[in-house]
Amino acid sequence: MTLTNEFNQPADLHLLVRMSKPGDEQMVRDFYSTFKHEFVDDRDHTMLDKYTADGRVILFLNKDNGQPVASSIALSHNIDPAKKAPTKKAAWTEVGATHITLGGFNLSSFMVSAQIMNEMFKRPPVQFFFADIYKTNSKASTLLSKVIGWDFFVPNDDLWDSTGFRHEEHLLDWLRCTTKTLPHQAKLLLETMDNPKIVNHKTGQAVHLDLSEMGWLKTRRKALENIATGPVSAILLDPAANQNIEWAAGTMPKRTAKKAGPTPQP
Ligand SMILES: CC(C)(COP(=O)(O)OP(=O)(O)OC[C@H]1O[C@@H](n2cnc3c(N)ncnc32)[C@H](O)[C@@H]1OP(=O)(O)O)[C@@H](O)C(=O)NCCC(=O)NCCS
Repeated sequence: MTLTNEFNQPADLHLLVRMSKPGDEQMVRDFYSTFKHEFVDDRDHTMLDKYTADGRVILFLNKDNGQPVASSIALSHNIDPAKKAPTKKAAWTEVGATHITLGGFNLSSFMVSAQIMNEMFKRPPVQFFFADIYKTNSKASTLLSKVIGWDFFVPNDDLWDSTGFRHEEHLLDWLRCTTKTLPHQAKLLLETMDNPKIVNHKTGQAVHLDLSEMGWLKTRRKALENIATGPVSAILLDPAANQNIEWAAGTMPKRTAKKAGPTPQP
């Protein structure tokens, strides 16, 4: 490990954050096969490739070597368990295969919030976002519930059938992101956008997140502010409001096309 001369502490890390794109398939496969973890189930390669090409894998790449150090996938679930491929309109979207190989930077706050907002803008599921987490993985469920703000819930039969995890019923905890958790997640995103340097308070090491390839964060900034603290947040936080994510997406401010400026006079 490189040490800084001055402070004798690990050198800062520079990570490029971006959504996956066609051509990343092998890199994503390699990441999951290299960094296997008891809490991350193996995913079918065909499915992995499709989600990678569709831009639904969020990647944190070490800028020194271009290799991922963290990854997570937004996976569509339709209500028909007989359908293997994700449908255009998912009933639920799962945040799954989350693996952050660097400890102590709480990168999951930004990672999960970015995935949720990206999906909200592009393809909101009809009902809600969810994660199923092994009961023995208290770290992940604590982070999701206490830091990111998701709620524990009990899945209904349709969701059990759609995920195919019923045989693991006794092993799993389920958490979901409904409308009322969105303002907090928008705040987490804005905080990191404004200060993309995260320090590991135990080691003093810092990671610098390069968000230049997350262009949508910039173009959606006003919408994110509106969801975080603006008029939309009040609607989303209203306990009487609908908890359906597709409904929430309809309340979000739309991007307005830039008006053409005045024609320059000669
Ligand atoms: C779960 C995971 C995504 C979290 O990554 P992260 O956000 O970067 O988390 P960090 O390592 O920075 O830990 C953040 C905080 O979690 C808390 N934490 C750590 N271990 C914990 C534990 N065993 N139980 C409860 N909380 C714990 C601490 O408060 C820690 O902050 P601190 O180190 O400053 O005290 C990552 O640890 C991981 O990839 N784990 C292996 C795979 C996995 O479990 N994936 C999730 C499956 S869905």
